[in-house]
Formats: sequence, C-alpha cells, structure tokens
Amino acid sequence: MQLTTAAIAATAPPSTRVRRLRSGFIGSAESAAAAVPPRRWLSGMGRRVLPPAAAVPPFKGTDGTSTGGSAAAGAAGAVHASQTDTQTGLVFQPIGEEVRPLVADLDEQLMNPASEPGCAGTRSMARSGYSVDVEAAFNEQISIELTMSYIYTSMYAFFSRDDVGLPGFAAYFRHNSDEERHHARLLLDYQTQRGGRVKLLPLAAPETEYWHAEKGDALHATELALSLEKLNFTKLRELHTVAQAAGDADATHFIEDYLLHEQSKDVKAAAVLVSQVHRAGRGHGVFHLDRVLSEEYGNKEGVIA
Ligand SMILES: [Fe+2]
Ligand SMILES: [Fe+2]
Repeated sequence: MQLTTAAIAATAPPSTRVRRLRSGFIGSAESAAAAVPPRRWLSGMGRRVLPPAAAVPPFKGTDGTSTGGSAAAGAAGAVHASQTDTQTGLVFQPIGEEVRPLVADLDEQLMNPASEPGCAGTRSMARSGYSVDVEAAFNEQISIELTMSYIYTSMYAFFSRDDVGLPGFAAYFRHNSDEERHHARLLLDYQTQRGGRVKLLPLAAPETEYWHAEKGDALHATELALSLEKLNFTKLRELHTVAQAAGDADATHFIEDYLLHEQSKDVKAAAVLVSQVHRAGRGHGVFHLDRVLSEEYGNKEGVIA
C-alpha cells in the first residue's frame, strides 16, 4: 500500500514524520526548491534538494546511442513522481528562519573567498549574545598572554646560557612561558566557541639581556616576572568587567573558573620567589635557589637542569 501525505499526516505524529524524512533523506523537490534555494554546502547538514527532472542531462550509452535528456528525465521524473506522491507538502528544514540570513551570508562568503566580513564574527552561526566589546577584549587578552609567554621564553633562553649558568631559573621561566601560552589557547578556544573571530596581533620583541648591576640577574628577572603577573591579573579583571557589563554570564564564569583565580595564585607564587631571591642574596644563595628550582621544574619540564 502506498502511503500518501494525507495518510502520513493522519496516522503519524510530527516527530515520526521528521524521522522518516531524515532516514530516507527525501522530500518534495518542487516544494523544497520553491521554499529554499539549493546550497551545496548544506547537503551534509541534512537538507538535500533533488534536481528537477528537466535538469537531468542526456545519458550516452556504452553502445554509442544517446538516450537523450527527455528519456532520462522521464525516468527521473518517475522516481520524483513516486516520491512526490508519498511526500507532497512535507519539507525537511534543519535550520530555522532566524538563522537564514546568517546562512545566506556565510554561503556568499564561501562562494566568494575574497569577500571580507562586515564586522568580526557576524557570519558565525554559533554566535549568540556575544558582544563585539567582549570579543575585542578577548582578543586583547590573547595578545597579552602570548606577549608574556614571549618574554618568559626570552628569560628561559637567558638563564640557559653558559655564561649565566642558572638552569633552575631557566626551567622556571620555561614553565611560565608554557603556562601563558596555554592561557592564550584557552582564550582562543573560548573565542571560537562563542562564534567570535580571533585576531592575533604582532608581538613586541622582548629584551634578551637580564643583567642588572645592583640587583643581579635573578632578582631583576623575578621582579620583572612579578610585575608581569600583576599586570596580567589587572587585565583579567578588566576583561571580567567588560563581560559583566555586557551581561555575559558564560564569559564571566569562564574567566573566573579558568583564569582569574589561577592568576591570583600566580601573583602570589611570583612574589614568594622574589622574597626568596632577596633573602638568598647574590652569589651562593642564588646558586642554591637555582638547585631548588631545578628540582621543582627541571625534571617535569624536560629541561636539563
Ligand atoms: Fe596567564
Ligand atoms: Fe602567569
């Protein structure tokens, strides 16, 4: 028995009809084509519009005889007719009207790679209640974290030198560099999760020498690290303020859970190290502290210390 649309509508709940359409992946070509223009990249998302029968090209047989478009169209038309008989009036639309303008915009971008977005993130279909202010603030924080990582990498290289000879400090700064890069990645992932667009900025070249005539290199570098961590803590609180002003509870929770509290602990740890270097003084004290840092960070980070 052949089920008609009316029979399906009468006997099956709406959810059953949707499942039937999804598993069979069929629909009314005529009604679907009339409602939604076909988009190639949407085929993987569950919407496929069968070509109209008249559009089927001629088929050339192996014996050299052409069956012609009309015959092929006739066969295809028979298939369509069969599907249309059973599905007339049912159109599977996996996306709602509210995202259709975004879909059209993204489709245009994909068809024309040279096109530029009007403003950051406007083509994201995941974007929901994500303000451009929060998006810009996240990009700024990514830049701050990467800059800190860059500076710590420079410190790592300095203390690794043979004429400096403090591999424990080198391991400590390498650990810090990795940590800041990890924070940048967390922010980057969140930016894309919310449909924002990541914009990486140029990084300023850090100092390569950390000698200091009065303080010595270890105290000079650790004090610089403390000031960096405190600056970062300030910037994270500012980022949190921007998210709060936008009423973005998800962003504020992310900043609190993954960055803010950890940063306050980083500030404390950096301050403790400065105090210890002060106590140790220059010379043998710094050498002893370097051994302690080697034990804590050298083996874990794979640094020869
Ligand atoms: Fe950080
Ligand atoms: Fe840090």
